[in-house]
Amino acid sequence: MPVLVNISQLATCPPGNPQQDAGLIDHAAVAWNGDTVSWVGPQSDLPAEFTDEPEIDAGNRLVIPGLIDCHTHLCFGGWRGDEFQWRLEGASYQEIAASGGGIASTVGATRASSPEELGRKARMALDAMLALGVTTVECKSGYGLDYENELKQLEVYRRLDQEHAVDLVPTFLGAHIIPPEYRDRREDYIRLLCEELIPAVAERDLARFCDIFIEAGAYTLDEARAVLGAATHHGLKLKVHADQLSNGGGALLAAELGAVSAEHLEYISNEGIDALASSGTVAVSLPLASLYLSEPYLPARKLLDAGVPVAVATDFNPGSAPSFHLPLAMTLACINQSMTPQETLNGATAIAARAVSLQNSRGSLVPGFVADLAIIDAPTLNQWLYHFVPNACTEVLKAGHWI
Ligand code: NIG
Ligand code: FE
Repeated sequence: MPVLVNISQLATCPPGNPQQDAGLIDHAAVAWNGDTVSWVGPQSDLPAEFTDEPEIDAGNRLVIPGLIDCHTHLCFGGWRGDEFQWRLEGASYQEIAASGGGIASTVGATRASSPEELGRKARMALDAMLALGVTTVECKSGYGLDYENELKQLEVYRRLDQEHAVDLVPTFLGAHIIPPEYRDRREDYIRLLCEELIPAVAERDLARFCDIFIEAGAYTLDEARAVLGAATHHGLKLKVHADQLSNGGGALLAAELGAVSAEHLEYISNEGIDALASSGTVAVSLPLASLYLSEPYLPARKLLDAGVPVAVATDFNPGSAPSFHLPLAMTLACINQSMTPQETLNGATAIAARAVSLQNSRGSLVPGFVADLAIIDAPTLNQWLYHFVPNACTEVLKAGHWI
């Protein structure tokens, strides 16, 4: 049973804690047995049974649960660096999308890529995310938008999950936009989603969640009801891209349908906040998307004060958030969402675990949970999130193994 000692500050992030309390313990130790945490506490309380066990020295550093990036679009073909320039010259994200760029252009590049190419590219991102201390990643499809290419993306995720140390949680986002070839007959695509794609994804166990982008230029509330209804019927849990660029009632629908999470929420209404508070839905904040699109940040303080848990994730994708740097997103959540470091860390660990329905095994360093942790070269949580460096993570333990 290995024991990690000489931890200047340990953040345990227990699942039942209020979000503002990350369960910090100074001068701590952690022990694990196989892939499971067996003991955490002040080092001075380490039980005698552990004192003869192999000790690893954390170098008087911060130790946190392995980070969970609970919202990414990890697998995609191409990039969209030219759009970055167009936006800087004044074109909006929606204008670029309306002229055939945006998500549709990545759909073209993804359809044209082989599974091997897509897998190689996603793997490079996963390697870098793991080095930052990220041990679990939710990953959406949504750049295939037809039978063959949606399944292709999800098969890439299945393979990577088997081969890579990072655990993947796949989400079916076939309802990302209406594919260009269905623009004049969108009801046919909704039928394809509900009658063929969702049943196939569920039957092959290719996704745990179904997501939909509710927005002008994407899907209407009525279409979302049909798609999410079919997903529920086939045993998928629900997520919603809601109220990102305008208030479209997405948060209200997410609450009404008991979605596990409502994501983005830059334009959520007060009514939407109350609805999420009653339904227990997790709000997923995506500060990098607000940064890159010069959009408002979601009202994290109002959500937290209303009792809505707020996760923090990257939204990594080639358009609105071309970065997988979760610690950067966390520092932005502190600065631009007025979340404290403890609220933010819980948002990227225990609350993020709730957003992917893994709150009984991941996101917390407590006995019985999976031994996923990161050693951070900072003496405290406050110091880490305040003093931004490219990568403060020095070691990662994944399921009891050093990476
Ligand atoms: O979460 N809003 C919809 N989907 C992504 C953007 C995808 C893209 O621009 O390629 C998002 O921001
Ligand atoms: Fe997204």
